[in-house]
Amino acid sequence: MTHNIPATLIPGDGIGPEIVDATLAALDALNAPFVWDRQTAGLEGVKTGGDPLPKSTLDSIRRTRLALKGPLETPSGGGYRSSNVRLREEFQLYANLRPARTIIPGGRFDKIDLIVVRENLEGLYIGHEHYIPINGDPHAVAMATGVNTRQGGMRLLEYAFEHAVANGRKKVTIVHKANIMKALTGIFLETGLDLYERKYKGKFVMDTVIIDACAMKLVLNPWQFDMLVTTNLFGDILSDLVAGLVGGLGMAPGANIGADAAIFEAVHGSAPDIAGKGIANPIALLLAAAMMLDHVKLPEMATRLRNAIDAVLNLDNIRTGDLGGTANTGTFTKALVHRIVNS
Ligand code: NAI
Repeated sequence: MTHNIPATLIPGDGIGPEIVDATLAALDALNAPFVWDRQTAGLEGVKTGGDPLPKSTLDSIRRTRLALKGPLETPSGGGYRSSNVRLREEFQLYANLRPARTIIPGGRFDKIDLIVVRENLEGLYIGHEHYIPINGDPHAVAMATGVNTRQGGMRLLEYAFEHAVANGRKKVTIVHKANIMKALTGIFLETGLDLYERKYKGKFVMDTVIIDACAMKLVLNPWQFDMLVTTNLFGDILSDLVAGLVGGLGMAPGANIGADAAIFEAVHGSAPDIAGKGIANPIALLLAAAMMLDHVKLPEMATRLRNAIDAVLNLDNIRTGDLGGTANTGTFTKALVHRIVNS
């Protein structure tokens, strides 16, 4: 008998509630033991309580230390600061794990099995930005400060290397731009190479690549990579790129891992262009839920969920529009639940 596991649920904005409903239906069919505490954040938090990151949401995660989260809308340019970034900072979720694995064979890139491990708290995402006004133009100059620390890089690199060893990854590639940003990304490269020499030599192959070359190599021959480890901004961009290799953002899950909490989500955003239409692909969040099941040490349930997604896509041939199919979120979910209860 599995014990109940308290977890925070944030349906989020845009397509969030639609894909969260689909994911809950799948988890219910699996009899997953999560006991959900529903909370708000993002635009929904602003609408219902005037706060993009309400105290009750933070208190809930402080208690459960585990959350499943739909995408949260962040205004571009002005407006409030990203609730996603604030959640990562609040719970020191320093590692962002973004796997990309081919589920539908025969696409432009077949048999992809890559993982991007992104530093989640430092670099150019710390929000130290300002404008300098000149001659009446308030935005004449824009400045941003990036901060990477040895300690912050070290804990992320240690997490990534341990994950590589535990999951039998053969090669780890550190992605950087130390030729230009010699200090900001050089410190990450140097820390990674040093850590490998001291503790991981021989456990996997270590490689390094400059971010721009990495982007090209990923498109020409993604199979040369196994695990990519990188700083915050590069990881953000590369994880969308590798999502594209396996069918797009609808297929890309993410886990934000810290010492005291873990938050699971889709890589994609709130997709305002299709919100409310019932056509969103829920697979990214479903795969995030599978990562959450692995995290709470229920790997068999995670495997059942992944196998059921595979069966619906490839045996039932039921796919949403972003994957070239005609199914809507509801028909996909119904087929998935059917596969799960019969597995
Ligand atoms: P987006 O990821 O929401 O959408 C990009 C494109 O992909 C759109 O055409 C959308 O329709 C499509 N798409 C995304 N997910 C899909 C799915 N599950 N099924 C089918 N199609 C899907 O990126 P965008 O439009 O740049 O951002 C919208 C909002 O989301 C912004 O406010 C942004 O800040 C926020 N965002 C939130 C994230 C999070 O909560 N982790 C991550 C990325 C963006």
